[in-house]
Amino acid sequence: MHISSELRRRFADAQRVLVLTGAGVSAESGVPTFRGGGQTAVWKGMPFDVISSAAMVERDLPAVWEWFDYRRDFMGAIKPNAAHEEIARWQDRFAEFTLVTQNIDGLHQQAGSRDVIELHGNIWRARCTVCRSNHDNSAERARPDACLECGNQLRPDVVLFGEMLPRGAFEFAAERASQCELCFVVGTSGLVYPAAGIPELAKSAGAYVVEVNPERTPLSDLCDETITGKAGEVLPLFSQ
Ligand code: APR
Repeated sequence: MHISSELRRRFADAQRVLVLTGAGVSAESGVPTFRGGGQTAVWKGMPFDVISSAAMVERDLPAVWEWFDYRRDFMGAIKPNAAHEEIARWQDRFAEFTLVTQNIDGLHQQAGSRDVIELHGNIWRARCTVCRSNHDNSAERARPDACLECGNQLRPDVVLFGEMLPRGAFEFAAERASQCELCFVVGTSGLVYPAAGIPELAKSAGAYVVEVNPERTPLSDLCDETITGKAGEVLPLFSQ
């Protein structure tokens, strides 16, 4: 595993850099990915994209909370890994740095990353199903039984299958992607849109696109370089 001299040169000269991350960047911290290795996550016999869906919120919100509380419980003890830490260092290295994540685990922020664009929400927040006001859902505090503003039911502040992304998040990420010179795609299967469209936008705007993943993905052919390896082992090489 090594960083090409071409990429080292571009990394040294770049002003505007964007990083898109997926579940793979948290794998070495112990967060199971959804796909990869030919497997897909299942909860109580239900494929994760069934329990994690808008339809399930309508049909059985307590079951949705059970799934997210199970994930919240083990994520509460999980720490950022070397990949999160390296990415956090990059934010002060480039004139314009943008970190876009599909992850809801908050590990980038725990590693010190600021202004993280969370395309799929955050497991440490709950949201009112009616007035949409946000509520703290962090591990150390009991979640309110109902919305403190209007008394209606709370749901996870996470984008579920069949739902739109948070207003403005994708648009801002897309704008930055179309301006960046260097785009890293780290630990994502590139199967879920519109997130997977971010590297495509960067590429079509002339950016140099680099994938970091132990496996090839549908985005690999689009990339100028693919580094086959684990994020926690590959990304720290940029500081060496
Ligand atoms: N380092 C880098 N990549 C890794 C590592 C690692 N240590 N371990 C696994 N990967 C790669 C896998 O090869 C796979 O390509 O990470 C990818 C994880 O893919 P998914 O599980 O599909 O995760 P992601 O792409 O983030 O999923 C997108 O789908 O389920 C929804 O909302 C959920 O945000 C998620 C979205």
